[in-house]
Amino acid sequence: MISCSIIGATSYTGNELIRLLAKHPNVKFGCLTTRSEDPVLAAEMVPSLGKNDTLWIEKFDEKKVLKVSDVIFLTLPHTAAMEYGAKFFKAGKVVIDLSADFRFQEPKVYEEWYRVKHSATALLKKAVYGLPEIYREQIKKANLIANPGCYPTGPSIALYPLLKGSLIQAESIVIDAKSGVSGAGKKLSQVTQYCEVDENFSAYKVNCHQHQPEIEQTLSAIAGKKIKITFVPHLLPLQRGILCTIYLKRKRNASKQKIVETFEKFAGKQPFVRFLGHGKFPGLHQVQYTNFCDIGIAVDENSDGVIVITAIDNLLKGASSQAIQNMNIRMGFAETAGLL
Ligand SMILES: NC(=O)c1ccc[n+]([C@@H]2O[C@H](COP(=O)([O-])OP(=O)(O)OC[C@H]3O[C@@H](n4cnc5c(N)ncnc54)[C@H](OP(=O)(O)O)[C@@H]3O)[C@@H](O)[C@H]2O)c1
Repeated sequence: MISCSIIGATSYTGNELIRLLAKHPNVKFGCLTTRSEDPVLAAEMVPSLGKNDTLWIEKFDEKKVLKVSDVIFLTLPHTAAMEYGAKFFKAGKVVIDLSADFRFQEPKVYEEWYRVKHSATALLKKAVYGLPEIYREQIKKANLIANPGCYPTGPSIALYPLLKGSLIQAESIVIDAKSGVSGAGKKLSQVTQYCEVDENFSAYKVNCHQHQPEIEQTLSAIAGKKIKITFVPHLLPLQRGILCTIYLKRKRNASKQKIVETFEKFAGKQPFVRFLGHGKFPGLHQVQYTNFCDIGIAVDENSDGVIVITAIDNLLKGASSQAIQNMNIRMGFAETAGLL
């Protein structure tokens, strides 16, 4: 049994961590924390805890967190997370940060896209990007795991086998992404209010969404050369889920059969990637409340066009359950523990 704490436990992703970790066979809770002076009964935020009246979300107490925790999840806004992450990492804890604060290798990329100064730049090289499908071996040894962003997760997983196998033209990647509203977190903003979202569908941050450089960093590392993408996010009038339609051009030697076989082989080794096959496409219902990334493809045999469609739950494979998958890998538990 290990002891896990969640800093920022009142957040959407913190609530999902509580829900899942409560049933994890290898975990007990350390501290669940908030900035608030008033403790909150966890079951009031996480209904699946039922009548549990002993688990509380309490005011952050650094000494207590350090004393009782083996693994610390940070579910805080970016900028806030870097300070806590640095402190806990230096104290020898395993830190899994769900924010963007440790995802970038280059501080200047983070500072340009997030428009804040990074206060723990030395740790960026020590952090491992927590996408198990690509970095499983590195995650096994990491004490600072930068959980990926919700939008980058699906496209990075799906493009990995295609780039690795050199099957697509790397300069032709267009990602048309659509997310449910929980992707924006709990903080109030006009664009996520009910009357703005309900019965509506719109693009936002075209060419300037902060997840674009994160995807480019991952794809560039796979391809071994700098990759620029076109990334267009949209807001769906739904609570949860991200569907990405990825437009690609294949290379001459990449037949439909080769592409299908490449995905079959890749997904066959991944406990949480389901390849649906050629001509079959995922919807959000089939991934909501799961840690799965579902992938479907269509190869146009009369042109070089390839369409890849990915679906995930932004709060789970895009955040909290992926964080638990990372913890399982790091702590030597079954990768699927607490997630199926
Ligand atoms: N939502 C998603 O789908 C998603 C997916 C992937 C990654 N992420 C990332 O995961 C992190 C958490 O996201 P979320 O959507 O779950 O957040 P959220 O619902 O907006 O909640 C953030 C929590 O952080 C605490 N907080 C806010 N400002 C703080 C500060 N300055 N210092 C310390 N604590 C502060 C608040 O708790 P108290 O007021 O109780 O202290 C709040 O409950 C973010 O960095 C986000 O970008 C989110």
